[in-house]
Amino acid sequence: MSNRLPVDYVGGDGPDTEWKTSPGGLVTALEPVMRAADGAWIGWAGVADREFDAFEHDGIELIPVSLTADEVADYYEGFSNDTLWPLYHDVIAPPSFHREWWDAYVRVNRRFADAAALAAAEDAVVWVQDYQLQLVPRMLREQRPDLVIGFFNHIPFPAYGIYSQLPWRRQVVDGLLGADVIGFQRAADAGNFSRAVRRLFGYTTRGSVIEVPDGGTGTRRVVARHFPISIDAAGFEEIARRPEVQARAAEIRESLGSPRTVMLGVDRLDYTKGIRHRLKAFGELLRDDRLSVEDVTLVQVASPSRERVETYRQLRDEIELTVGRLNGDYSTLGHQAIAYLHHGYPREEMVALYLAADVMLVTALRDGMNLVAKEYVACRFDNDGTLVLSEFTGASDELRQAILVNPHDIEGLKDAMIGAVEMPQKERARRMRSLRKRVRDNDVAKWSASFLEALTGSGRLTAGLS
Ligand code: G6P
Repeated sequence: MSNRLPVDYVGGDGPDTEWKTSPGGLVTALEPVMRAADGAWIGWAGVADREFDAFEHDGIELIPVSLTADEVADYYEGFSNDTLWPLYHDVIAPPSFHREWWDAYVRVNRRFADAAALAAAEDAVVWVQDYQLQLVPRMLREQRPDLVIGFFNHIPFPAYGIYSQLPWRRQVVDGLLGADVIGFQRAADAGNFSRAVRRLFGYTTRGSVIEVPDGGTGTRRVVARHFPISIDAAGFEEIARRPEVQARAAEIRESLGSPRTVMLGVDRLDYTKGIRHRLKAFGELLRDDRLSVEDVTLVQVASPSRERVETYRQLRDEIELTVGRLNGDYSTLGHQAIAYLHHGYPREEMVALYLAADVMLVTALRDGMNLVAKEYVACRFDNDGTLVLSEFTGASDELRQAILVNPHDIEGLKDAMIGAVEMPQKERARRMRSLRKRVRDNDVAKWSASFLEALTGSGRLTAGLS
C-alpha cells in the first residue's frame, strides 16, 4: 500500500481507461514479490473526484482508493506535504499545522485501512509505505488482528525536539506502533523514533525492539530499525550499456558545446534538495574565475513537483530567477552556464544524462535516502565520473567514497566541486569502483527481501526470487 498507485492515469473511461506504469524503483522491487505472492497494491490513482474499480495491470491487481478534491488539498497537499514533509525534513521550510488537514489525514488513512482490511486474505502480509499513511498500521490491526503489518518510512524521522512540535505527535506514533516492523532509511531515524516512543509513551525499548502494551496484560514486540532502500542496479547498468544510450550521451555533450566538464543535478523541484545552495556555489565559482563557462556547464534537471503547494511555487520562482541571473551574467553566445530543464524524463534519457556527466551534484539539505546518487553510480560501468554527495542524505551512510559535503558550507561545497573537476582519472576510477560494488551488492531486491524477512520471520514471500 502506498499513497500513489504504481501507475498513472492517462485518460479514458470504464473499460477503456488507460494507465501507464510510473517509473519508480518501488514497483521494480515489489513487482516480482507481488506476482509470486498473488498480491494486490492499494493506492490513490492520482486524480481527484474519480472512482475506479480494481483492475489488473502488468499482472498485478491494483485497488484504487478515491480522494475528493478537498481531500487532495487537505490530506495530500496539506497535511502530508505542508505539515509532515517539512517537519520530517528538519523544518527546512516551516510546517503548517491545521486541524482540518489533520481531520482529512485521519479520514483518508481510515479509507486506506478499510480497503486493506477488505482485500487481505487471512493471515496476509500488508506492507504500508511512507509518511502519508502513518495511521494505517494501528487502524488495520484493530480491524484485522490476524494480519502481519509492516511499515516503511521513505523520508527521515526527525529528532524529538522537532517531532514534538506536531500537535498530533502521540496519535502518529501510536498509529505506527500498530505495525510489527517499522522500517527507516538510517539508523539515526530509527533511533529518533524509539526516543519519541519513550518520551511520549514511556514504553521499554531494547535495541530495535519496542515493547508495546497489547491492550490486555501482555505486550507485543514491535521492531523499529533501518533498512536502507536502493535501486535496481543491474537494470540501470543494462540501460547504460546500450549503444543507443551511449550515443545519446555523446550527443548531449555535443549539444552543450562539448565543454571539458559537465556537472549535473537531478532533483524533484523541492526545497529539501539544496538546489539553491548548489547554484550559489556554482555562481561564485564563475564570479571568481575558478570555473569558466568555456570549460564547465551545469545541467540542472528540476522535475515539477507538488506545484499547488505555496512553498514549492516560491521555490520555483527563486530558482528560476537565480538561473536566469547566472545565465545572464556568465553565459556567452556559444556557452551556456546552466542548462535548466523543468521536466521529468524517461529513464533512458536520465541514464544518458548520467553517462554524459563528469560530476554529479547531490547537495540535499535533508533526504531520506536520495536514489539519484545510487542511480548515477550504477550507470557508470566505465568507472568514471565523480559524485559530490551531501552528508545529510541517507545515501551518504553507504557511499563513503563519494566527495562528502555539508551543503550549508558554501566554501566547502565550492572546494568539493573544484576537487571533483580536478580529480585525477585514477582516483575517480578507484572511488567509482568501490561505490559501484556497494550499490550492486545492496540493490532494491535485497532491501525488500530483508524487510519482508524481518516482517514474516521467514523467506516465505521472497523464496525463489533474486
Ligand atoms: C518522495 C516520497 C514519496 C513520494 C515522492 C513523490 O520520494 O517519499 O512518497 O511519492 O516523493 O512525491 P509525490 O508527492 O508526487 O507523490
